[in-house]
Amino acid sequence: MIDLQQAGAGLSGYSMLAAQLESLLADERDFIANSAQFSAFLFNELPDLNWAGFYLNRNEELVLGPFQGKVACVRIPFGRGVCGAAARTLETQRVEDVHAFPGHIACDSASNSELVVPLVKDGRLIGVLDLDSPKLARFKEEDQSGIEQLAAIFLRLTDC
Ligand code: SME
Repeated sequence: MIDLQQAGAGLSGYSMLAAQLESLLADERDFIANSAQFSAFLFNELPDLNWAGFYLNRNEELVLGPFQGKVACVRIPFGRGVCGAAARTLETQRVEDVHAFPGHIACDSASNSELVVPLVKDGRLIGVLDLDSPKLARFKEEDQSGIEQLAAIFLRLTDC
């Protein structure tokens, strides 16, 4: 049994989450298992989220992967909405007000802000990690860098 408190002892904020995630994923490299765990970990450890999960690159289209939250749109073309923009540009999209984002796809009307991190391993886009919040401007710069670090841990510890 992994002791997540023990894994993060003496650390704070995203450093603690990073230590906990390292511990959570240490004994398994399976993509489905680790992406499901990572979604649940983010959804339960980060405050003010209403959705956390994956869209996976399937022939230049994003297809819904493991997630926590309400049922969501299944397929998103590259370039559409916030997730599609992250997939096309390979840059993290941090959106303070999704209603002002051109082409935003409203899967859940409760969502007001969003952070989408492209997941690139060995030069290949695996998919994107999508976090939604009911709070406007929920994600600050420190959240972006912290969550990008968590995504890098996930990619390093997972077979993709
Ligand atoms: N809002 C996203 C779609 C995915 S859902 O939020 C889960 C977007 O515009 O890409």
